[in-house]
Amino acid sequence: MLFNRRQILKSAAALTLLPLAARASNHVMVASETIQQLAPEGFDKTRVWSFGGSVPGTAIRVEQGARVQRMVDNQLSVPTSVHWHGIRIDNAMDGVPGVTQEAIPAGGSFEYDFVVPDAGTYWYHAHNRSVEQVARGLYGPLIVQEADAPDVDQDLVLMLDDWRIDPETAQIADDFQKNGHDLSHAGRIGNLISVNGSFDPTIPVKRNERLRLRLINAANARIFDVGIQGLNGWIVALDGMPLENPVPISESFPLAPAQRADLLVDVDAVSEETASLVSVERDGAFGLAKFAVSGEISATVRPAPNPLPPNRLPDVSSFQSAPLHRMVLQGGAMRWLENARIGETELTGRELAQLGRFWALNGEAERPAEPFLKTSVDSIHRIEFVNETAFPHAMHLHGHHFRLVDGDGSLGPWRDTVLVDRGQTQQIVLMADNPGDWLLHCHMLGHAASGMMSWFRVA
Ligand code: C2O
Ligand code: CU
Repeated sequence: MLFNRRQILKSAAALTLLPLAARASNHVMVASETIQQLAPEGFDKTRVWSFGGSVPGTAIRVEQGARVQRMVDNQLSVPTSVHWHGIRIDNAMDGVPGVTQEAIPAGGSFEYDFVVPDAGTYWYHAHNRSVEQVARGLYGPLIVQEADAPDVDQDLVLMLDDWRIDPETAQIADDFQKNGHDLSHAGRIGNLISVNGSFDPTIPVKRNERLRLRLINAANARIFDVGIQGLNGWIVALDGMPLENPVPISESFPLAPAQRADLLVDVDAVSEETASLVSVERDGAFGLAKFAVSGEISATVRPAPNPLPPNRLPDVSSFQSAPLHRMVLQGGAMRWLENARIGETELTGRELAQLGRFWALNGEAERPAEPFLKTSVDSIHRIEFVNETAFPHAMHLHGHHFRLVDGDGSLGPWRDTVLVDRGQTQQIVLMADNPGDWLLHCHMLGHAASGMMSWFRVA
């Protein structure tokens, strides 16, 4: 049999790919379709998209300062990319199609290679058509360990998600960008909450154990209001970055899409009892994960924890004299856009709605040609998010962490994603110290897809 031209090309390609295939297999991360039991027992398994064969994708755990190399092999039928959320990363590795790389075509691959400067809880997710690809399961945890980690009995990653599943078939509803109601309201809110890809996770613990819980909200749009029962503890880090002082958890706290919180909790419940992580909803507390208590690890609890060792973050204490840039969040149901721009073109609200655009940032209903902010390296800027809409938004900056400026003008915690409530104005301060073009967008992914997308340039 003769080779046709196509086959010859194929084998030539196989030859050039050989050195890659010969690398350690944990360097390869395959994006592919797979099935998983997401819905409770009795329902069918759900077709999902994953990195590494399950949702959440392969957990990456490395030491602070380590180099991460992953060859992403795209076996999906659509192009994708990987964004390493919260990592102060080299711009070329940021995973944004059309900005830092071309999307990885179906059947193609791309090697990500970067260093992780900060310890903490991060995550990675697809950044091409994210409103669909993240909702289908393309995400995983990225944990960077401190050299000097706190003393705990278990270090657990709990990745929260909110799926929209057809109850008849248990398959993912595929109305990602067609659903104008979702896009113009709170985003794609689901009907099935999972933790680590499972409906009803139970974690065995002993009384008086100290647990580190690394919470990651991978949902498209749902803001979890997280509470603990039968546990006693502190928030020690937000969005990866240690708090100066651990904050005792006395009530529930919000975890917006893309945000993380590291908790240290002591198991307080007595034997046989079940402790739990809950989400406080309007009609009561919904269990996220159960901690099945059996036996006791010691008769007493540990003393209150010390703060986690700090990461090396820039000094922004002179922020009061830094330039202030306003970003007004506009549109959505009940505050419909009257008009906004897409590129050079000024469109009416009705025309925008026909294009599936319901939101705008400073009058732009699409990532504009010119950056929102252009700055030299190592200068300090303040950004004021003015939320004129009737919905909360989770504003995320790529490549940088920033500090919140509290209502009284003092500096709050470091974050990479800030929840700005309806009607709220929230100021942040950042040191623009990472050169490149970086996105700034709402992490309610339907909002980003329907107008809430901007960028800034550090050069
Ligand atoms: Cu986690 Cu631009 O995203
Ligand atoms: Cu939003």
